[in-house]
Amino acid sequence: MIDTDKILETGIKAAFESGRILRFYLGNLAEINKKGETDLVTKADIESEKIITETIRAIYPNHSILAEEGGLTTNDTSSGQSNRWIIDPLDGTTNFAHQLPLFCCSIAFQHENEIITGIVFNPVTNELFTAVKNGGAYLNGAKIKVSGKNDLKESLLVTGFPYDTNGIIDPIVKRLSNCLKAAQGIRRLGSAALDLCYIACGRFDGFWEQKLKPWDTAAGYLIASEAGGLVTDFANKPFQTEMNELLATNGLIHSQMISMMRI
Ligand code: IPD
Ligand code: CA
Ligand code: CA
Repeated sequence: MIDTDKILETGIKAAFESGRILRFYLGNLAEINKKGETDLVTKADIESEKIITETIRAIYPNHSILAEEGGLTTNDTSSGQSNRWIIDPLDGTTNFAHQLPLFCCSIAFQHENEIITGIVFNPVTNELFTAVKNGGAYLNGAKIKVSGKNDLKESLLVTGFPYDTNGIIDPIVKRLSNCLKAAQGIRRLGSAALDLCYIACGRFDGFWEQKLKPWDTAAGYLIASEAGGLVTDFANKPFQTEMNELLATNGLIHSQMISMMRI
């Protein structure tokens, strides 16, 4: 039996610890390294991941951890992969490196292949988004819900672009062009986890992106869903974190957005 209160409490504690690290390194990075041509990694990513995993391990030494920088580690000899934390220690690294205060850490807990807890924390705005499966979504403890916009022309959308656009630049541009013509406006914030949370609290009405990873989406997916949003792939299949495409909306503009994704 999973104690969801204790899981949430542990995840929040880890997120606040990460927040201290991220605030410390913001504007204070001695060097910025590259994982790919445009994919950055900093001491903040590494140290944030260290403190998050240490905080979780101190309470749950037998749970598996899938974290962006360290990959999958499992000490779980008894129950296989049934309890797993999915962590992005710094979502929005490029923003962070440019001292743009749009970033967060993202922490999710998965039990028997189902995401049941999501925590996203932006330590600059001090916004803590949380959700527990079937328990609703919250921003700093206050219940949140998606927007009521039902017309794309009245909708503010957000998207993101993968670091590696090789071979998919044409579909990316086509979908962007479809949405630019149909929506009120489009933003590109640079943090997929925050994009999903902003769907959850009604700041954005729709979000789409390709080639995201489980650590980008696991927590935000649950938060957006628990706030009443709909999250699918571009063909309207229920979203799973291994999927290559993500479309999250307030539900009301979902079918209009599915047509925008068709190319
Ligand atoms: C990135 C951000 C960005 C998205 C990229 C992600 P990172 O994560 O979420 O918004 O467009 O696809 O990889 O590298 O900053 O953790
Ligand atoms: Ca990320
Ligand atoms: Ca990251």
